[in-house]
Amino acid sequence: MPTSAIRGLFRKLGRALRRRGVGGTLGLVGTKLRIMARRGTPDTAYDDARGVDTSGNISLADLDIKSRNWEYGVRYTPTVPEVFHEMMGHLQIEHEKFTFIDYGAGKGRVLLMAADYGFRRVIGVEFSSELCVIANENIARARGVAAGDRVICECADAVDYRAPEDPLVIYFYNPFEENIMRAVLENLGQSLRATRREAYVLYYNPVLLGLLEAQPEWNVIGSGDDFAILRAHA
Ligand SMILES: C[S@@+](CC[C@H](N)C(=O)[O-])C[C@H]1O[C@@H](n2cnc3c(N)ncnc32)[C@H](O)[C@@H]1O
Repeated sequence: MPTSAIRGLFRKLGRALRRRGVGGTLGLVGTKLRIMARRGTPDTAYDDARGVDTSGNISLADLDIKSRNWEYGVRYTPTVPEVFHEMMGHLQIEHEKFTFIDYGAGKGRVLLMAADYGFRRVIGVEFSSELCVIANENIARARGVAAGDRVICECADAVDYRAPEDPLVIYFYNPFEENIMRAVLENLGQSLRATRREAYVLYYNPVLLGLLEAQPEWNVIGSGDDFAILRAHA
């Protein structure tokens, strides 16, 4: 087994023991083994069509992430294209006036899909430099995506990122835990109060929807089986 994989295994084990204790960790290991046994081949249809590499699941413990917030991040899993397009269908906006931001952009699949809608700018924020490099390579080589220099993945921790003062479409695919989400929403709220403008959130697997609903800025305007769409007070 390569050294990086062994290091990743120990980081994961240490985190699980700190959070769940010995009993909880053993239960988690059992669940993971069952999931691995059931796992089929990864969905590569999007990658095959565009000539990119966005598939697969990657544990954050297997990546070299400098931020201490790696413990609160959710592993890399790409958005299912059909769900993304269903979410986008809820937005009645002039896309070219908006900047799209994917918080926790991973390998950039969502950035490529958003580029096809003609947003003014498409920005990914990803704290794994390895994933960020892959995302930017994907942007550079994707077939049939008019990316140019208006699409980019920035290597940064979401808590340190400040959104531009444009009308915004914010994308979250359950990227991090509550403490990080709170900090990100606080920054966004401050930005929207300082410069009032139209803003939407597309939230896939919205496990922390209650946090957004509790903020004065955000109202739910749509939902599906596993997503919610929110709009900020203009
Ligand atoms: C579930 S994946 C979503 C990937 C991508 N948005 C998509 O939908 O295809 C979550 C991503 O968030 C990133 N992430 C987690 N915590 C982060 C943080 N604090 N700052 C930046 N990125 C983070 C992870 O590295 C991972 O790539």
